[in-house]
Amino acid sequence: MTVSVDLDRSVADTIHLESLPGVVDRLIQQCHDIGAPAMTAIKRVGDSVLMEYHGPLRLVAELRTYSALSVVLGEYERDRDDGYTGAVARLRRSVTAGVLSALTGVEDRLGFRIDPLRDRWTLRDRVVEGLSWQNDPGGWQLNLTRSGGLLVGQVGPLHRSSRFPAMRRLPASTNPLIAAVLAHLLHARPGHLVYDPFCGSGTLLVEVHALDAELTLVGSDSSAAALVAAAANQHLFPSGRLLRADAVRLPVATDTVDRVISNIPFGKRVGSHAGNLELYPAFLAELNRVLRVDGRAVLLTEDKTLFRRSVQATPELHVVREVQLASGGLHPSAYVLERTRAAARRLKARSDPPR
Ligand SMILES: C[S@@+](CC[C@H](N)C(=O)[O-])C[C@H]1O[C@@H](n2cnc3c(N)ncnc32)[C@H](O)[C@@H]1O
Repeated sequence: MTVSVDLDRSVADTIHLESLPGVVDRLIQQCHDIGAPAMTAIKRVGDSVLMEYHGPLRLVAELRTYSALSVVLGEYERDRDDGYTGAVARLRRSVTAGVLSALTGVEDRLGFRIDPLRDRWTLRDRVVEGLSWQNDPGGWQLNLTRSGGLLVGQVGPLHRSSRFPAMRRLPASTNPLIAAVLAHLLHARPGHLVYDPFCGSGTLLVEVHALDAELTLVGSDSSAAALVAAAANQHLFPSGRLLRADAVRLPVATDTVDRVISNIPFGKRVGSHAGNLELYPAFLAELNRVLRVDGRAVLLTEDKTLFRRSVQATPELHVVREVQLASGGLHPSAYVLERTRAAARRLKARSDPPR
């Protein structure tokens, strides 16, 4: 059975989008930008967003800053006390006119699974009796679970991993939701050259390309294995070039790069804190060399004290913004770097022809 989603079918449902700390702020902004009539009653709940959705699913399916999309089935405790009557009614409504009505290829017999909730077997029996769906932990389209106080049904074919093409990953590859936030913070403009000097498998280049397919992209890494992974993903950033290079000796001329974006070694899965003591200052000096006068860099790290100290020791660059993020037990920050005003003035004076 091949299940797909009719993204052009108009649906009406209460939906829940699961995101990450720090990323959720960008998601909620994107939802407000789309706004009425498709998205109304937009509300942040923890690291997720709730809303009333009316319209073709394509609008929400294209957002890159959430992982799971769920249909809201009610308040978990209240619904359980109620024998899940409300949840079954909401599922029926969703399959008639809501998100679940856009699933094609299920032939009215949706497969579902249930997370280990208290009283899950009652919920299973209500769904099987009320809707004749199939409890199928190996081949489900709907995962019934809790998010905070809510009972929700996560729609498998609308998970981020189903909405976007699969990518080759490395153990330290950047979470794609975080990559989407970094790409947004970059403020790249048409014609810009964007460089990721620690590109790994190229996740950041994929997200930058998704924002603007016309940008010139370059990725480099010191590891041959990383570049093999990046090459396998290159169809997702076809305008990009990949190079093998040490980030402290980049193969580009001085003052030529508009934007630098990177998930730099945290000193945990990649490198070590001792290694970063040398790497960070040397890389920042190289960044300072290649970045144009009005350039901007967005760098992700968890080795924050060392990073800030290294920036302070690089007199021509400063941090203009920090966004705290979290994923997989790590709590990195994205740092936005620009030239200090004094450095920008000096560099501009040097490049402007004398009058
Ligand atoms: C956190 S990973 C980057 C993850 C990448 N954004 C992705 O999604 O796969 C850091 C990368 O830096 C590379 N690296 C470490 N030291 C380097 C150096 N001195 N020069 C260039 N690359 C380096 C590693 O090989 C690794 O691929």
